Parts: sequence; structure tokens; C-alpha cells
Amino acid sequence: MGGSAMLTYLLFLGAWIALSTARHFNRSGLITLEEAWIPAQFFDLVNTTPVPGNPPEGVSDAQFLSDFVDVHNQRLKTMDAVGISYMVLSFASPGPQGFSDPVQAQQVAVEGNNALAAVIANDTFRFGGLASLSMHNATEAAIELRRAVTELGLLGAILNDYQQSGADNSTLLFYDSTEYDPFWQMVQELDVPVYLHPRTPVSSLIKLEWSGARSFLIGAAWQFAAGTSEHALSLCINGVFDRFPNVTVILGHMGEHIPSDLFRIDQQLGLEAVPMKKTIAEYYQTNIVQTTSAVFSEPLLDFHISQIGADRILFSIDYPWQSLEVGANFMHGVKLDAKTKAAISTNNAIDVLRLNR
Ligand SMILES: *[C@@H]1O[C@H](CO)[C@@H](O)[C@H](O)[C@H]1NC(C)=O
Ligand SMILES: *[C@@H]1O[C@H](CO)[C@@H](O)[C@H](O)[C@H]1NC(C)=O
Ligand SMILES: *[C@@H]1O[C@H](CO)[C@@H](O)[C@H](O)[C@H]1NC(C)=O
Ligand SMILES: *[C@@H]1O[C@H](CO)[C@@H](O)[C@H](O)[C@H]1NC(C)=O
Ligand SMILES: *[C@@H]1O[C@H](CO)[C@@H](O)[C@H](O)[C@H]1NC(C)=O
Repeated sequence: MGGSAMLTYLLFLGAWIALSTARHFNRSGLITLEEAWIPAQFFDLVNTTPVPGNPPEGVSDAQFLSDFVDVHNQRLKTMDAVGISYMVLSFASPGPQGFSDPVQAQQVAVEGNNALAAVIANDTFRFGGLASLSMHNATEAAIELRRAVTELGLLGAILNDYQQSGADNSTLLFYDSTEYDPFWQMVQELDVPVYLHPRTPVSSLIKLEWSGARSFLIGAAWQFAAGTSEHALSLCINGVFDRFPNVTVILGHMGEHIPSDLFRIDQQLGLEAVPMKKTIAEYYQTNIVQTTSAVFSEPLLDFHISQIGADRILFSIDYPWQSLEVGANFMHGVKLDAKTKAAISTNNAIDVLRLNR
């Protein structure tokens, strides 16, 4: 074999190896990535917390509960019926963030990740997963994330707002301090996204802030967005994205309201000596993307496109709290040009989740 023939052969071999090891997934329809699941062995444990909330209209409580555990039956059947080609699953909130005992939180995370990898192992063409992590110790979180990504094939992490800790569950750990740098360093190194997802408040906060009729505001009506947007903004103002410029954080529920208020947030933060290098609007172009989960309103989608751009928005549903049919039909029906629609419904997720590598 001559030199150039040999080179061609090696290039061909390299391309073949790259192709044969690339992730193989169904890209023909919608991709959706804020979709809950509960490992059967943890169902009783996590079901004692205020989750799971209310089922979608027309779904019985019994069906709702079984939807959390199911993957290959009603979930997949409905995905086929409504054109969802690939779904990314994650352990329902609060997951490990709901355990103040570091040992128990770590056990829930590790066993949850093993169970998630196992349940989707025979159908990675249709399902991916995000890792749950105990956030009591940043180094331990980094090590488990690496294991989940490199050994289990998961696509990134989901963190359910702050990690509760302390004997009375009242110490709240936010991931904005330099103590969490080993975690963010690993996120950047692995080049995977982190989904920052809501959680319900610890009981001491409920007593202080959300009692009486205000308790109706706990959860999806308001408190989820208030808590998660505070945490996301705290990552910005404490310079996490300045220290780790390649990190991508995904927010659900149309950015937990942040794009609706960028004018006022940046105007006020600009008047103060905030230890961050960019504006929140700028971090939204470099480090933050958001999904449509549970917000199926076309005027709102148009507004958010106008504020942050269609390339920062990914379709998602929030099953089983939301109906797969309603969510998918919303996306199929939006009046956007074909390229923008394909970006939001499928292609942006392929980029953010690095599905092409
Ligand atoms: C790919 O996804 C579509 C839904 O968008 C589904 O109808 C089709 O059966 C899937 N293909 C395979 C081979 O699973
Ligand atoms: C994967 O395994 C489950 C049982 O755990 C089964 O119901 C399902 O059909 C299997 N899927 C594939 C694609 O083999
Ligand atoms: C965090 O975990 C690492 C790795 O297991 C360990 O070396 C370190 O001592 C832990 N830090 C704390 C404060 O417990
Ligand atoms: C702390 O939370 C755990 C479960 O998350 C619960 O069993 C325990 O009673 C709580 N402790 C206090 C003092 O609220
Ligand atoms: C960030 O990403 C760019 C582009 O992919 C890459 O060249 C650079 O090395 C990355 N930086 C870090 C610190 O990972």
C-alpha cells in the first residue's frame, strides 16, 4: 500500500470508528428533556415528601403514580403516538436534594443513577438520562457525575435547587460559592449540561414564608420559579460562569420567569458592585438555556424568542405532571418558520445534550 493509499485507509478507518461509537438515537421527531421518573425501589421513600403534586386533567391518581415508574409501556406508547422520538429522564424532585443526611443523599443518588442507567439500557435509541447528585460535598458530586457520564452514559446532571442539610433540615446549600468549584470544574471538563430544577421548600421555610392560604403558592403556581430563579441568578452574581465559562445551565418553565424581567434585573444589578463580569442577559447568551416545560403558550414562546433568541430555547414537557399529548401538540402546532421550529423542538437539544458526540 502506498503512502497516500495508507493515509486514505487510516482516515476511512478513523471515520468508521468515530461513527460506530457515536450515540445512536432517534432524531426523527421531538426531543424532550425535563421528564420525571422515580425508581421503583425509592417510590415509598420519595413519595412521603410533598411531591408528586397534581396529575394532568383527566388522569386518575393511580395512573399518575404509575406514570412516574413506567418507562417502556404507556410512556413509550404515547411518545410514538404523539411524535416524541427521544426523551431524557430524570429522578423526580427533590431526589437527593431532599435528604439532609449526606450518606443517605449519596446513596439515593448512586442507586438512582444505577437504576436509571439500567432501566433505559435496552432502549438508548429512545431514552437518555440526567444524573442525580448529592450536593453535600462538591468533590463527591464531581466524582459521581464523572461516573454517571463516563461509565453509565448519562447526559449531564439535574439538581433540584438547594441541597437541604443539617439536623433540623434548615441549612440550605447553594452551588454558587467557590466551595463548589470542584463540581463546576468537572462539569466543564466533561462538557455536559446541568439542569437546575425546582424543589418544594423545607418545612422551616414553609412555616416562615408559605403558611395559611399562601401554601397554595408553593410549587408550580409561584414558589418553584421564585426559588429556582434566585438560585440561577446567584450562580451569575457569584461569578460561577466567569470561573467556568464553558458551563451550560438549563432552566425549565421558560427560564423560571427570568427573561420576562431582564430589563429590571440588569438595570438594578448594573447599579451595584456585583462580583460578576457580564450582565444576566449576556450570561443568557453564553451559559444559560431554557426549556418550554409546562408552559404551552404561543404568545409567551414568541415573547421569549424576542428576548433571548430561539437558539436558547429547547422543547420540554414536564411529564407526568403535564400531558405528553398536550405538550407535543403545542410544539407541533406553533406557527414558526420550519428552521426555528426544528431548532426548538429537536436541534437545540442535540447541541446542548451533545448527542452528536
Ligand atoms: C422514532 O420516533 C418516532 C416518533 O417521533 C416513532 O414513531 C418511531 O417509531 C421511532 N423509530 C424507532 C425505530 O423507534
Ligand atoms: C426493555 O425492557 C423492558 C422490560 O424491562 C421491556 O418492556 C421493553 O420492551 C424492552 N425494550 C426494548 C426496546 O427491548
Ligand atoms: C468531600 O469528599 C472528599 C472525597 O470523598 C473528601 O476527601 C473530603 O474530605 C470531603 N469533604 C468534607 C468537608 O467532608
Ligand atoms: C428532616 O427531614 C427528614 C426527611 O427528609 C425527616 O424525616 C425529619 O423528620 C426532618 N427533621 C426535622 C427536624 O424537620
Ligand atoms: C471551552 O470551549 C472552547 C470551545 O469548544 C474550547 O476551545 C476551550 O478549550 C474550552 N475551555 C475550557 C476551559 O474548557
